[in-house]
Amino acid sequence: MKNIVILISGRGSNMEAVVRAAQREGWPARVAAVISNKPDAKGLAFAEAHGIPTAVVVSKEYPDRASFDAALQREIDRFAPDLVVLAGFMRILTAPFVAHYAGRMLNIHPSLLPAFPGLDTHKKALEAGVPEHGATVHFVTAELDHGPMVAQARVPVLPGDTEDTLAARVLAEEHKLYPYAVRLFVEDRLSIEQGDVRIAQFA
Ligand code: GRF
Repeated sequence: MKNIVILISGRGSNMEAVVRAAQREGWPARVAAVISNKPDAKGLAFAEAHGIPTAVVVSKEYPDRASFDAALQREIDRFAPDLVVLAGFMRILTAPFVAHYAGRMLNIHPSLLPAFPGLDTHKKALEAGVPEHGATVHFVTAELDHGPMVAQARVPVLPGDTEDTLAARVLAEEHKLYPYAVRLFVEDRLSIEQGDVRIAQFA
């Protein structure tokens, strides 16, 4: 049974999608904890209602990034994670923190990486006039929104789209994509070879 620790900062709808899929599909894994850097993150209530331990590590209480990340790492490691899942966790992470979870930390980013790293991806996609947009699940490396890609989901950009309509279309795909990718990890089907993710097929 693998332990998954999920980090959130807000709504937590991707966390919810992973929790629900793990339960529904009987993964060989359990969500051991949901940890937020915001005490008022909406997703904490869902986790508590599902009997998942929660914790909050507030960045303002630490003098710098390094000490915050060290405290966060201590909290995460109490739950002996095999996998750390970043689900709308809005923090830039330090290199030692990322190195500690190398090969066992995933992120979902709402764009078809390498296009549009960083914030405001839906706005950037509309401004660029791209015909397609989407989401990417990738292993986390020290460079923001880079790292070996596990899977992507694509959606069309439609005439009349606003940031909100496009975000909603992408989010619906995220809720399928992230559980799919996390499941591949917990089933030991992912490996990283020369910087690329390989997905083992079922025998
Ligand atoms: C998602 O769009 C995710 O891709 C991005 O932040 C958003 C988080 O939403 N990193 P939620 O908290 O999972 O509902």
